[in-house]
Amino acid sequence: MTRIKTDILVLGSGIAGLTFSIKAAKQFPNRQILVLTKTVEGESNTRYAQGGVAAVWNEEQDTFEKHIADTLDAGDGLCKEDIVRIVIEEGPERVREIIDWGARFDKEKDSPEYDLAREGGHSEHRILHYKDLTGWEMQRTLMDEAASYPNIKVLEHYFALDLITQHHLGRMVIRVTPDIECYGCYALNKENGGIDTLLARVTILCTGGGGQVYKSTTNPVIATGDGVAMTYRAKGRVENMEFMQFHPTSLYNPAGENPSFLVSEAVRGFGGILKTAEGEEFMQHYDPRLSLAPRDIVARAIDSEMKKRGTDCMYLDCRHLDKEGFTAHFPTIYDKCLSVGIDPMKDLIPVVPACHYMCGGIMVDEHGRSSIHRLYAAGECSSTGLHGANRLASNSLLEAMVFAHRIFLDIRDKMEGWDFQEGIPDWNAEGTTDPKEMVLITQSIKELKDIMSYYVGIVRSNIRLKRALDRLFLLYQETEDLYKTTVVSPQLMELRNLITLAYLITRSASHRRESRGLHFTTDYPDHLPFVEFSVL
Ligand code: FAD
Ligand code: SIN
Repeated sequence: MTRIKTDILVLGSGIAGLTFSIKAAKQFPNRQILVLTKTVEGESNTRYAQGGVAAVWNEEQDTFEKHIADTLDAGDGLCKEDIVRIVIEEGPERVREIIDWGARFDKEKDSPEYDLAREGGHSEHRILHYKDLTGWEMQRTLMDEAASYPNIKVLEHYFALDLITQHHLGRMVIRVTPDIECYGCYALNKENGGIDTLLARVTILCTGGGGQVYKSTTNPVIATGDGVAMTYRAKGRVENMEFMQFHPTSLYNPAGENPSFLVSEAVRGFGGILKTAEGEEFMQHYDPRLSLAPRDIVARAIDSEMKKRGTDCMYLDCRHLDKEGFTAHFPTIYDKCLSVGIDPMKDLIPVVPACHYMCGGIMVDEHGRSSIHRLYAAGECSSTGLHGANRLASNSLLEAMVFAHRIFLDIRDKMEGWDFQEGIPDWNAEGTTDPKEMVLITQSIKELKDIMSYYVGIVRSNIRLKRALDRLFLLYQETEDLYKTTVVSPQLMELRNLITLAYLITRSASHRRESRGLHFTTDYPDHLPFVEFSVL
């Protein structure tokens, strides 16, 4: 067991964590920034982003007001308008910054102008991208830039287990306690099995999303909602968890694949059309924007058509598109399709919705401050109010950069006033022994994903949600019993975190007695007149 002191502790090395760290490292050359990452630095949701980053770039054609209107429209009445304005107006400056750090977004042929793509819900072409590998390019840029600061240290294969608060000093802390403070976290060094105590003046949660709570997801296996679960256990506030976004078009693989491969919405922006197996269009029955309607509408339309027809997938038709343009913009998607025997220029691409993005998360204010003092959150683990009931495509990379910057500004003048907390005990592993039956963990994860996929998926109802809560309670009890007696492992912690995440999603879904954005329930199919965030 090691005790480590660092001025700033950042949990996560995706776009939010690294953007923040670079700024802090530059501002405070004498302060140490420690970045923890669960596996390797480059493995994150960020790394898999395909479509790109939305920003008002061509000011002759596009305006902030149009991007704001599109975001509010997608958010279905639940966005915080002041936050939407902040992100969209500050966004282009953050994009310019990452370009200065070396990000290579695609340009138009023989032109210095960026090639701006369009995705569902956007009224203009405004998506900057690097082929269909935008996230990879942004992650690469951030890792290179971070490596140039000697005061940033990245600890790989370090798994944050729990946040440290007054609770660890023996004080009772409940969710309404007004002065909960965060002093760092306990983390498992996966290489030697030790549990270290990491003490910090301030902690920034950038732990990403939790798509792994569902059976089928575009999120990599690291996306288990750890930051949200840790915050909830530390009695911090979490909100809008019922709004889990399903991407309409992941590649259908009858053998199953974890994660599911994404077929970017930009393919539809490029002219791809959703069709039935017989080659008929169906989106005209659901929305005048057809295949480019916002994601919640398209995912529900596909789900409904599949149920109506008893099929396992619907199709994306790209056969009419220009091959040269398609392969230049979507080389990864093209190659992946070929690798499974589908030629996008000759065949329909089978697609199915998959869990993709967590719109809710750790409740933060306009400076990224959580309800716990000295604890901030940015990126997918946070809920800023930008996305409301449904995220507009390609707004999340933008949000992560804007909030990483805002957190940096907020802590700039506060650092001096925050000291290390004395008296924090080491991790208590008393009474635990090595796990004897891994099947208890692996099988519980499978059960959990089944519960969420069958009862808390794209379409919900009171009876399904009640059934899910009953089943989750049993899983929770069994897993807590295991946790009390078993040496901590990443698998066990991920199971605990996923159960918490599942509970938060299901509980919030049961509280919302209406259908809005991504939350659709057959018991309350309409909007309620008064819109509120669901806070737990
Ligand atoms: P991440 O990039 O997920 O990083 C999370 C980090 O936290 C990782 O380093 C992880 O190791 C670490 N971590 C997690 N738990 C722990 C723990 N317990 N201990 C230590 N470290 C931990 N958005 C767009 O705007 N445009 C797109 O085109 C786009 N395409 C997407 C395509 C795919 C396939 C996916 C999955 C997402 C896409 N998104 C897109 C969403 C976007 O990529 C993510 O929302 C965003 O990258 C999240 O960034 P982040 O920094 O919050 O988290
Ligand atoms: C995509 O490329 O379709 C994903 C874009 C996003 O999730 O914002």
